Formats: sequence, C-alpha cells, structure tokens
Amino acid sequence: MLPSIPILFLLAIILSSTIAAPAPGAFNPSTTIPDITIQQLLAAAPTICTAVTEECHPAVDAIKEINTAFAHYRLKTLGQKAALLGLMTLESGNFTYNVNHFPGRPGQGTKAMLMFPHIYDYALSQPALRVEVLRISNGTALNVTIDNTDKIPVADQKAIRALVLPEKYTYAAAMWYLWNKCQASMVMKLAEGGFEAFREYIRDCIDAGDVTSGSDRLKRWCSAVKAMKPEGMGMPEQCS
Ligand SMILES: *[C@@H]1O[C@H](CO)[C@@H](O)[C@H](O)[C@H]1NC(C)=O
Ligand SMILES: *[C@@H]1O[C@H](CO)[C@@H](O)[C@H](O)[C@H]1NC(C)=O
Ligand SMILES: *[C@@H]1O[C@H](CO)[C@@H](O)[C@H](O)[C@H]1NC(C)=O
Repeated sequence: MLPSIPILFLLAIILSSTIAAPAPGAFNPSTTIPDITIQQLLAAAPTICTAVTEECHPAVDAIKEINTAFAHYRLKTLGQKAALLGLMTLESGNFTYNVNHFPGRPGQGTKAMLMFPHIYDYALSQPALRVEVLRISNGTALNVTIDNTDKIPVADQKAIRALVLPEKYTYAAAMWYLWNKCQASMVMKLAEGGFEAFREYIRDCIDAGDVTSGSDRLKRWCSAVKAMKPEGMGMPEQCS
C-alpha cells in the first residue's frame, strides 16, 4: 500500500527543513513535464474561448499546436511552459483574439500579440512564408522598427500579419519570440529561475513592466503552473 498523502506531506516538510533546495514537494521550475493535455489547458484558462470564430480555434487544435511548438523550440520544463502559456492566455484574452482590437493596431497579432516589427521578422523567418513577405515588401527584406512601422501601408501590415495568423504559426509565436527576441540567457533562466525569471522575462523581454502581486500577469502564471505541475509538487510562494 502507498503511504497516504498526509504522511508524504509531513515527510516533505521534514526533508525541506534539512536539505538544500529543491526539496521534494517544493515548486521546481526545471522539472521536465509531458505534453499539455486539454484538461490542463482548461484548468490554466477556465474561460478559454469556445465559440469558434476566425480568431478563436477549437481547444483541441490549440493544444496540438502549442505542444508541437514547445517540442519544435525545445521547451520542456514547467518554468518555460508556464511562462509562455501564461503570456499567451493573457495577451489573447483567453485565446479569443488573434489580432489587436484595443486600440486596433493593424500589424499586431498572434496569440502572443506581437507588435508589427516582430510579426514582420517572424513571418520572414518562416521558410514557407518568406517569398510572400518579400513580395509584399517589394523585393527587399525591411528593417521594421516601432518608429518606422507607420511608413508601411496598413494593407501591407495586415497582409503580412495574416500570414502568421493560421494555427500553425499563431500558437508558436511566443516560442519563436523567446528564442529570437529575448536575451540569449532567457530560455535557461525560465527553466531554472521560478518567479524571478518570469518577472524578468515580462519586464525585460516582453517589455510589459513589473509583475506585481495581485496582477493579472501573476494570476495567469500561477494558473498555468498549477495546471501543469506534477501532482504533489508545491506552488511558488508568490502564488499563495
Ligand atoms: C480570462 O480568464 C480569466 C480567468 O481564467 C479572467 O479572470 C479574465 O477576465 C479573462 N479575460 C478575458 C479578456 O476574458
Ligand atoms: C511597395 O511599393 C509600393 C509602390 O511603390 C508602395 O506604395 C508601398 O509602400 C511599398 N510597400 C512596402 C511594404 O514598402
Ligand atoms: C534597424 O534599424 C535600427 C534603427 O534605425 C538600427 O538600430 C538597427 O541596427 C537596424 N537593424 C538592421 C538589421 O539593419
């Protein structure tokens, strides 16, 4: 017979007071976790969009693409997956939106709500999309920045954004961004650093300011951790 949960819990407390971290039962962002299940996605984002529209895809499709993207970008740990899933559910309004509606920037989109300079680089980096991006760009790869975005015709911004809105690309945008637009150390930091790494990712890489206690960003991260962590593993102290 297996020991009951209270005994394991007591054991975890005893062990955690005698050995250095990570104690068994403590939150450990570097734990490798398997593919995310639909149940975990729904636990992480209980109000995920269900009315399928041009912007909202069925949850089975979302989960398939997210798992494919995690594998493609070699993101295996709880810390990495929770940071990216938390980001996507927040930025897309629980996956409801695929393009920016507030205030309605023409070139901004994907489930990570990348700004147009990043949308442009993301589309250009995809072998199957590159020819079309170059055609819209009149033959030359552009250096798009926040400052020169408004020089690019709105119709062209929308046409390039449209290339990365299909499921295959929209759910992989956050993973691409992590590897291509964050500091090179961020991939490992998210795997090892827990809340402080998530905070640094949001502040320095997403450029979205501090993750304060009680904020929506913190809540999303905590929901993602809670949904994906192995059974029996504790939660980060910042989530209590
Ligand atoms: C997304 O879901 C969370 C609860 O999981 C809720 O607090 C939040 O308001 C929702 N966001 C939107 C934009 O619907
Ligand atoms: C492509 O060329 C047309 C015609 O000269 C111009 O109006 C448009 O702004 C150019 N598009 C981009 C993305 O530079
Ligand atoms: C793009 O433009 C920015 C601002 O003008 C400049 O700092 C950067 O070096 C340029 N990047 C490339 C790849 O040309």
